[in-house]
Amino acid sequence: MQQEFDQLEAAALAELSRVETPVQLEEWRVRYLGKKSALTAALRGVASLPPEEKRAYGARANTIKSDLQQQLAVKQEELERDSIHQSMGGAALDVSLPGRSLPIGRLHPITQVIQEICAVFARMGFQVIDGPEVERDFYNFEALNIPHDHPARDMFATLWLDSKESPEARLLRTHTSPMQVRIMEVHKPPLRFVVPGRTYRYEATDATHDWMFHQVEGLAVDTDITLRDLKETLFEFCRSMFGRETGVRFRCDYFPFVEPGGEVAIECFQCKGGGCRLCGGTGWLEILGTGMVHPQVLARCGIDPTVYSGFAFGMGVERITILRHGIDDIRHFYSGDFRFLRQF
Ligand code: PHE
Repeated sequence: MQQEFDQLEAAALAELSRVETPVQLEEWRVRYLGKKSALTAALRGVASLPPEEKRAYGARANTIKSDLQQQLAVKQEELERDSIHQSMGGAALDVSLPGRSLPIGRLHPITQVIQEICAVFARMGFQVIDGPEVERDFYNFEALNIPHDHPARDMFATLWLDSKESPEARLLRTHTSPMQVRIMEVHKPPLRFVVPGRTYRYEATDATHDWMFHQVEGLAVDTDITLRDLKETLFEFCRSMFGRETGVRFRCDYFPFVEPGGEVAIECFQCKGGGCRLCGGTGWLEILGTGMVHPQVLARCGIDPTVYSGFAFGMGVERITILRHGIDDIRHFYSGDFRFLRQF
């Protein structure tokens, strides 16, 4: 009996040493440790043996079983290690190899500049809101003192969505100024808002014009707001945005919805005022339109112009970004070209 067991164990181990695949290993397990194996049959037979044999016989059979199980586990681990090694092409794992880096996204340069502009005004107590890009003639023109036959309509080449007869006609807003009216209809003074957003003009595109661009509008209305508040607010904005040492210029300009109207320019980034191509030889770069809110606009929004006054401004975001970085073509912004976008 002992001899039979020794032979069985020797045969099992010899065969195990020849096993090379997981399938072979499973076959081996069924053969030597499975329900129908000689070992299992022998263990089952223990019960019917005379008591004096039972103990030695049973103990021996159990040792073989646990030995074989242990060897099975060892072999299994060996095969797993082999297969990992193989899947790595047999080469050793180079732990010094740098990992694959995941590309990190970034904010579009225009988004970055909008956030910067809004942050400067937020520090001065302005709230940030947005408004509809599809507007009514009423908000884009009528309520801003630009009736149908007004020549100022020529300043804004308009993309119409409806035939342009009524104040209800829809269009793509040509500036963010309609939000002045929407704000004053809902909020009563004191109020301070900035409105970033897209604007559209029916224009052939070239290096300096696009049919879609961004503006940031600003509006402040309160008692006793004067031209001095306007100038100081915008000068402070320019200093924060472009640096304390950059010169700022304020000049008169005309917009139907402000009185008086003005325009703010900053010293040219490139020539520092000397005159170059970027500034057209003037030394100055115009960056925004502004003015004191026209009394008629206030009145139309239900705000008494004899009690309240306010100022408004509007700036082009692409223009500021182009001037700041010396970008040669506005169309780069929406070309989706990563070689351009990655620089910001
Ligand atoms: N909306 C004007 C434009 O697009 C700019 C502006 C805004 C001027 C507010 C005055 C006051 O040109």
